[in-house]
Amino acid sequence: MANDVTFPKVLVVNGPNLNMLGTREPEVYGSTMLADIDAELCALAEDLALSVETFQSNHEGALVERIQQAMGTVAGVIINPAAYTHTSVAIRDALLLLSCPIIEVHLSNIFKREPFRHHSYVSDVATAVMTGLGKEGYLLALRALARMIYGVS
Ligand code: DQA
Repeated sequence: MANDVTFPKVLVVNGPNLNMLGTREPEVYGSTMLADIDAELCALAEDLALSVETFQSNHEGALVERIQQAMGTVAGVIINPAAYTHTSVAIRDALLLLSCPIIEVHLSNIFKREPFRHHSYVSDVATAVMTGLGKEGYLLALRALARMIYGVS
């Protein structure tokens, strides 16, 4: 008989230019590629009894639509809205549709960078924010979500 156990799903959403990780400003964002981060998240998810679905887009509307589709279907969201962090009311409004925990992640410490990066339209609708820990921020976010989803304090 097929194994039909399904683990709670975490949606990982990455915004514009994060598909270029590895070659994009490595002094700021490191040398790891997005596919490597996705693979590490999937491996960790297995240990945490979660499943992970990853989505990256350079288009604001596509990001909004993927977040809308998450309504009622995912147990948690990790989102790095990238440049849209600082501009997008539409992504913020889409996140407000969700009732699950949301963790905002940034590879760099946005508060140590240019002033226009200091404001996030997402932070006050997110459950928590990880900024400046590189790819580790995504992994820690997944661990934190596992504890929230399984009710471990
Ligand atoms: C980023 C920070 C943003 O300011 C920037 O526009 C990005 C990446 C980060 O992960 O550090 O594209 O979200």
